[in-house]
Amino acid sequence: MEYLDLAPATHAAGTVRLPGSKSLSNRYLLLAALAEGETDIRDLLLSDDVERMLEALKALGIDWRRGERNDFRVRGAGGAFPVKQAELFLGNAGTAFRPLTAALALSGGHYRLTGVPRMHERPIGDLVDALRRLGADIRYLGNEGFPPLEIRPAAIRAGGRVAVRGEASSQFLTALLMALPLTGAGATVEVAGELISKPYIDITLKLMARFGVNVERNGWREFRIPAGACYRSPGTVFVEGDASAASYFLAAGAIAGGPVRVEGVGRDSIQGDVRFAEALQAMGAQVALGPNWIEAAAPSGGRLKAIDLDCNHIPDAAMTLAVAALFAEGTTRLTNIASWRVKETDRIAAMATELRKLGATVEEGDDHIAVSMPRSEPSGAVSRGLTFTPGVAIDTYDDHRMAMCFSLACLGGVPVRINDPKCVNKTFPDYFDRFADLLAPVIAIDGPSASGKGTVAALVAEQLGFHYLDSGALYRLVALAALRTGVALDDGEALARIAGTLPATFERGRILLDGADATDAIRSEECSAGSSRVAAFPAVRAALLGRQRAYRQAPGLVAEGRDMGSVVFPDACLKVFLTATVEARAGRRYKQLIDKGMSASIGTLLQDLRERDARDSARAVAPLQKCADAELLDTTAMTVDEAVAWVIEQVRQRLPQAAARS
Ligand code: DC
Repeated sequence: MEYLDLAPATHAAGTVRLPGSKSLSNRYLLLAALAEGETDIRDLLLSDDVERMLEALKALGIDWRRGERNDFRVRGAGGAFPVKQAELFLGNAGTAFRPLTAALALSGGHYRLTGVPRMHERPIGDLVDALRRLGADIRYLGNEGFPPLEIRPAAIRAGGRVAVRGEASSQFLTALLMALPLTGAGATVEVAGELISKPYIDITLKLMARFGVNVERNGWREFRIPAGACYRSPGTVFVEGDASAASYFLAAGAIAGGPVRVEGVGRDSIQGDVRFAEALQAMGAQVALGPNWIEAAAPSGGRLKAIDLDCNHIPDAAMTLAVAALFAEGTTRLTNIASWRVKETDRIAAMATELRKLGATVEEGDDHIAVSMPRSEPSGAVSRGLTFTPGVAIDTYDDHRMAMCFSLACLGGVPVRINDPKCVNKTFPDYFDRFADLLAPVIAIDGPSASGKGTVAALVAEQLGFHYLDSGALYRLVALAALRTGVALDDGEALARIAGTLPATFERGRILLDGADATDAIRSEECSAGSSRVAAFPAVRAALLGRQRAYRQAPGLVAEGRDMGSVVFPDACLKVFLTATVEARAGRRYKQLIDKGMSASIGTLLQDLRERDARDSARAVAPLQKCADAELLDTTAMTVDEAVAWVIEQVRQRLPQAAARS
């Protein structure tokens, strides 16, 4: 069996751009297929479950084309599917199987729907019963109540009422609601029993409304689809980032320092799983939300605390809480999670088995789980005083969420093996790469202008095979953009706007602004002086913070500037304060300019450097300073090679594996 070994980790921080949401992607695809007109779907998730839906739509005669990256154009059928006979294999994609069953049952054709063996163990009887009450002809090809299914043409009883049970899966109601406009006659759907996972129904209704069908909702018991309703393309739709996937990264930030920021979902999200952030907050994590991002960091006191939570509103993200409970003081009780038992695997049983392997005490019931952290030792022998069983191999049960959840266990400071890691392809093919980015070590090199830190940092990065961030270049680019567009260098607000949307890219050693090469332009004396002025505005610094943190990517980062160790990467594993006397620095700059055939005066250079040092050190925010935990490197009497060798030696002491590769 394939496996992935995760090394022990103690800190997670950084920024993750989320892939598109699975639930939204498959709903948008189906609605676009049934709608009149063409729909451009931007940022679609590319994963196994979405591919199953795309293949099925193609087989059903829907014309779709992929454009750039994750953008798709779907030409809708303007009603039922044009192909009237097809065999569809839908893998383990519940978000494709259930809605397609309903839409095909009302399409007047002859279809067979199959999936992987686990899909054939996932109940669908409640949906089939409801569709049969409408007159649909659906037969079970295997076990009664489960896929595979055969659907035959039938006379559908249009209009009237139809009941569906809501206790097992909200996907049955979603499937009915999305399919019913195909009858054109309107209908009222009644929910029997308690409806679980209501936020997913909310998503369904919002998306249907975007396609022109407004469902009248009476509490969560009755839903009325108006007669004559039909789907019309809204033109272009954007798929939000996956809020369930966000939970793993946010939990990593809450468990292991942080801050971790996810981009693509936030306060304005329509996905219920964003409320996972509230649960983390209740566990003591520090959480901040923007319109399109969420950030989480560890509690100010250090450790998370246990919670007691009804998880009906966040069924998928709640799994992440069960693993976060490994790191929380007390016993975490998650209730109202019966639906876990009929997902990709029996998630309650799987979760209990794997958590126990790590040393946790777990109690499981029909619809709840209670998790107590592995016994902690006051001596704190292992990271954060936890005593996880090391070297455990986690089984993942062909369940993407099991694999993603248990990646967090390595934050307990123990190595963890994840069996069959590729099961994450279902919703998040490059999950483990993004997770590794958060754990990537950072080497922060700060120091005054012309100290040679840029040259040293770039060479260290090259030797280690790490990424490299020249943060000064960002401030220089803001200054250049301001000078070019006539923005005054004392207009903090306007400068912050520039910084927030800086159209800059770094490509093979060249720096582009608005697509044009600005590598040399940002090094002009005017830009040098301007950059130290713009850098004094707190709003400019804040606007560049996330951008700098996004450079933290596996296998590691060397970042240089003024506040890399103090503000941007306070958890850097090595901090160096690299300096030289102002005379030595002026001498080096003088030589550089003369070598380039430019004129220079030592006196002027000395004065410029002194002024810039004073401005960079005296400013109120993130002043140039040596952090208490930084190593001092005075290069006045050193060559570049000597300085690089000195830094590599420091890396070797902290990260022997990374240094060995150099
Ligand atoms: O490192 P540099 O000379 O390219 O930096 C240009 C200016 O940007 C410098 O005057 C100070 C500012 N800067 C900063 O304030 N914080 C950083 N992390 C990097 C640079």
